[in-house]
Amino acid sequence: MCGIIGYIGTKKASPILIAGLLRLEYRGYDSAGISTVEKNGLSVMKDKGRVKNLYNLDGIDNLEGTIGIAHTRWATHGKPSKENSHPHLDNSNSFAVVHNGIIENYNDLKNFLLDNGYTFRSQTDTEVIPNLIHYYYTKDEIDDNYRVLRAVQKACKDFKGSFAIQVISKFMPNNMIVVRKDSPLVIGKGDKENYISSDIPAILSFTKDFYLLNDYEFALLSKDTIEFFDINLNKLDKKVTSIDWNTTAADKSGYDDYMLKEIYEQPTAIRETIGSHLPENEPCHFENLNLDKKFLSNINKMYIVACGTAMHAGLTGKLAIEHICNIPVTVDIASEFRYRNPIIDKNTLCIFISQSGETADTIAALKLSKSKGATTLAISNVIGSSITREADYTIYTHAGPEIAVASTKAYTSQVILLNILALYFAEILGSVSQEEISKMKKEILALPNKIEKALNTSTEIKKFAKKIYQEKDIFFLGRGVDYNTALEGSLKLKEISYIHSEAYAAGELKHGPIALIENGITVISVITDEKLVEKTLSNIQEVISRGAKTLVITNQTLPSNNIDEVIMVPNTNVLLSPIISIIPLQLLSYYISKEKGLDVDKPRNLAKSVTVE
Ligand code: F6R
Repeated sequence: MCGIIGYIGTKKASPILIAGLLRLEYRGYDSAGISTVEKNGLSVMKDKGRVKNLYNLDGIDNLEGTIGIAHTRWATHGKPSKENSHPHLDNSNSFAVVHNGIIENYNDLKNFLLDNGYTFRSQTDTEVIPNLIHYYYTKDEIDDNYRVLRAVQKACKDFKGSFAIQVISKFMPNNMIVVRKDSPLVIGKGDKENYISSDIPAILSFTKDFYLLNDYEFALLSKDTIEFFDINLNKLDKKVTSIDWNTTAADKSGYDDYMLKEIYEQPTAIRETIGSHLPENEPCHFENLNLDKKFLSNINKMYIVACGTAMHAGLTGKLAIEHICNIPVTVDIASEFRYRNPIIDKNTLCIFISQSGETADTIAALKLSKSKGATTLAISNVIGSSITREADYTIYTHAGPEIAVASTKAYTSQVILLNILALYFAEILGSVSQEEISKMKKEILALPNKIEKALNTSTEIKKFAKKIYQEKDIFFLGRGVDYNTALEGSLKLKEISYIHSEAYAAGELKHGPIALIENGITVISVITDEKLVEKTLSNIQEVISRGAKTLVITNQTLPSNNIDEVIMVPNTNVLLSPIISIIPLQLLSYYISKEKGLDVDKPRNLAKSVTVE
């Protein structure tokens, strides 16, 4: 999705802006551009295509400005083209703007501006922003230091939709203005310089001190100062948040791709996420989470709401919470949940999972639940992200920055956190024996080493990837927790290898999907629940007898039979097994994508952070 970078300081802005955009490339984009404040006015350099093309644009080396804004665009309104790329100028070239999000009422605003003599050069919704700012600027009769800010504020009051906006103007050559609503934006504070970005990792090498803007908060920046304002331009006092991610966490550290690095970071990510939640001989503990027995006993139902991989983590969380706490849990896709009428009251706990904490549908689902009186709990990987500021409670995965579009370490960290959360609830409720809880805690603490062992399957997996990378369709099967792992394995494969793939609950096969099984097709199954081994094996025999090639990921000793490949992974409590059995499937998607020569980290059409609907 679109990315924003900004710089205001004493150095030449353009190289810093381009370097920042390169760090945001992973979010997905189709064009890029920068604008700087020069002695003779505003410069704009932009084009469709890769960020590195900006280095070749005529005159880019001559830019001297020390204030600038930059953008990678992911087309929503208007095709990828130079005209539609950001930054956009108003008709008088006095204001340059970059924007993430969607101005939903841009047609009305455009008609209003057309009636007032403005013209448009692009098909974007964004171009109304600089022109509306210009409109309000010219109508303001007070010519003080805040005149541009007032114009931006008035324009923002007219916008419907979502936005993170950066504005520079020839009328305020020493300042920059930023504002956001439902779209991410952070301000990095440096020494005599400040940075803007849509996410923290992109500017982590410059600063670890960040200001996090809430909806409709404005910042007026100079190189030395940052003033904050609310929607009515009352001054706000905001605190700096220090982020403890290190910079190597945000680079490839010798790996070919971020995805491979992140797959191998999982033992560390899990260790960090377990953190201090499982103190020895004491109940599970979450800082800032104090749900008491009365509240938990009155809960009639829980929802877990998320998108994509995070939703798959939610499916594993449901099994853990239902099994250990005896509370019914419904898992919902955020984009569906937000448009139906979920049955929610004050006795409902709604849990929202989002690696980025910025997924538009998940945030909207959270707001809906709050408005219906639910207690809300966010699980995120990004400190201070939007979801964490909306929810009543937040607990964090500590996976470190996840850069590859396909989620790996964030997924396993979410699964472990949900299991610890289930134990936390169970201890308060007394819903399972202390013995079972202690066993589970031991298993959790043993997971990082077991993941390391599962990573050792990579040589076998790589060989298997070479055999099947040209397939057109691949099926995944599983029962119980293994069905959830099959869903996640199948999603990983689609995303980065572009192979059509479906995951089925193995028992459903006979109810339709088996019609798709034909000679030579590959079927991958996961078996980690000892109670269901025989059932799943029967389903595997059904596909073998119809000519399928089979791979099984398992921690069980299977009777010798005619399965083509069996990959063994370490055993653990069945509720935790998805954390281990997903590892070979992540590696499989990775190696298939590499065999096909694809861009593993930046798969086509996908964005890391889906900040628009
Ligand atoms: C898949 C993937 C996506 C995300 C989904 C939610 O590998 O990464 O399916 O899981 O877009 O993103 P977050 O967790 O940031 O809300």
